[in-house]
Amino acid sequence: MTSFKICFASSELAPFAKTGGLADISAALGRYLHDAGHEVRVFLPLYSSIDHSTLELRPVDAVRDVPLTLGGREFRFSIYRAEIGGPAVHFVHCPALYNRPGLYTTGGDEHLRFILLSRAIIESCQRMAWAPQIFHCNDWHTALIPLYLRTIYGWDRLFADSRTLLTVHNVGYQGIFAASILSDTGLGDSAHLLHQDDLAAGRINFLKTGLLYADALTTVSPTHAEEIQTDAYGMGLQDILRARSSSLAGILNGVDYAEWDPRTDRHLRYHYSPGNLAGKEKNKQVLLQSLGLPYDRQTPVVGLISRLMLQKGIDLLVQVLPELLGQRDLRFVALGSGEPDYEGFLGALQRRYPRQACFYRGFHTPLAHLIEAGSDLFLMPSLYEPCGLNQMYSLRYGTVPIVRRTGGLADTVEMFEPRTGTGTGIVFEDYDAAALRWALNVALDLFNDRRRWRRLQRNGMAQDFSWQRQGARYLEVYRKLCGVRAEVGMAEV
Ligand code: ADP
Ligand code: GLC
Repeated sequence: MTSFKICFASSELAPFAKTGGLADISAALGRYLHDAGHEVRVFLPLYSSIDHSTLELRPVDAVRDVPLTLGGREFRFSIYRAEIGGPAVHFVHCPALYNRPGLYTTGGDEHLRFILLSRAIIESCQRMAWAPQIFHCNDWHTALIPLYLRTIYGWDRLFADSRTLLTVHNVGYQGIFAASILSDTGLGDSAHLLHQDDLAAGRINFLKTGLLYADALTTVSPTHAEEIQTDAYGMGLQDILRARSSSLAGILNGVDYAEWDPRTDRHLRYHYSPGNLAGKEKNKQVLLQSLGLPYDRQTPVVGLISRLMLQKGIDLLVQVLPELLGQRDLRFVALGSGEPDYEGFLGALQRRYPRQACFYRGFHTPLAHLIEAGSDLFLMPSLYEPCGLNQMYSLRYGTVPIVRRTGGLADTVEMFEPRTGTGTGIVFEDYDAAALRWALNVALDLFNDRRRWRRLQRNGMAQDFSWQRQGARYLEVYRKLCGVRAEVGMAEV
């Protein structure tokens, strides 16, 4: 088997630095590749919010206090390495840029934080004399790496055989900055390689730059790979994505069942399996009790865990939930934070229906696991969803997902057919209140049909989205990039 050296560049890594699914994927894909025998080094910032009390961080001698001048300002970075029993994690330490309350900021130097990350990753490889065959970049934060390798670091033969892959997890976040930051990029004479119309319009778009210069592109589900080439979903990048469609693949995210399985979940007091769902009912009791809502076996609990942003379809909930909670017997449990308007809506819903609805504002991983386990239904009415993880977690937890047919939701949830007993969830088509109302009513009615409901739950629990399946697709992309022929042939004959 060909073993690859993979430099995995990301702004998030679970459990250390997480705002969403990118963190889960960086951790799980990194681990899959490591376990499959590849040498993986994951790089991310050493954000001051990271709790590293349980980590043994070792300074990497070759990368200590390295000066890097960005737009006339000198920064210094060092690398700290942590062995976590999987891929080697390399934290980029640069307090001047990463000592902030959260992972991301709206500050005027946000671009510098990720320019530094991208260049520090490349310079660390140089100083460690480590030549990755693959630089696997993720989202806008590390999307300048492909261009940097062709320009500022193009002289270095260490990278002569390196190839770049950019995975787009969220096309809605592009890292668009004013062209006045041009000198901070350090591109100098190579600035003409940036998108010239953008520059003329006074912008630099990091994600777009990555789409132009990465050797290969992926996004996180097959349906979304098609969608982002259309005007409706491309967020302005559809023309470039269409032009590069032969280099673009949709690879569905996998699930790390070591973290997300109701049989073993370390965040749960009660474990359960498809053969014995008693523990699920107990988790429902614990969930409601801990949130101060009355428990009743017959009353379904609808869960939501979400970054409360436009993407996640909260607008539809605004139109549907207040009325529905007045009409039907259900509990609604929401966890998340984001747009103040959406937070305000969920807070008001709780005040209006104090015995039916609860909103926990914030980020809380143990509660996320308990909501997955203790809810009967899980809501993901997304406007767009590159992949989505919670619907796949829900399936495994016997929590029936209600999803809109878009992106990864379309690829992972199949509409339940009561007649044949096939399907894994409730799927609606149009992004409007009527469609969501219909889906919720269908789901609530089904909940009362115990026999069919059990069937639906078990269909979902039997789904397998493990990395064993999806990870192999990334390896195919790496092989193609490196010109390695697929390993069939003599050994197989
Ligand atoms: P996205 O990356 O767009 O936010 P995903 O469904 O891919 O959506 O992944 C979201 C991940 O973040 C899941 O692991 C989910 O459980 C977690 N998550 C989202 N919001 C919260 C929250 N408020 N508290 C805890 N976990 C959360
Ligand atoms: C993004 C997407 C989500 C996806 C996640 C991990 O943030 O919004 O759909 O699952 O990245 O790839």
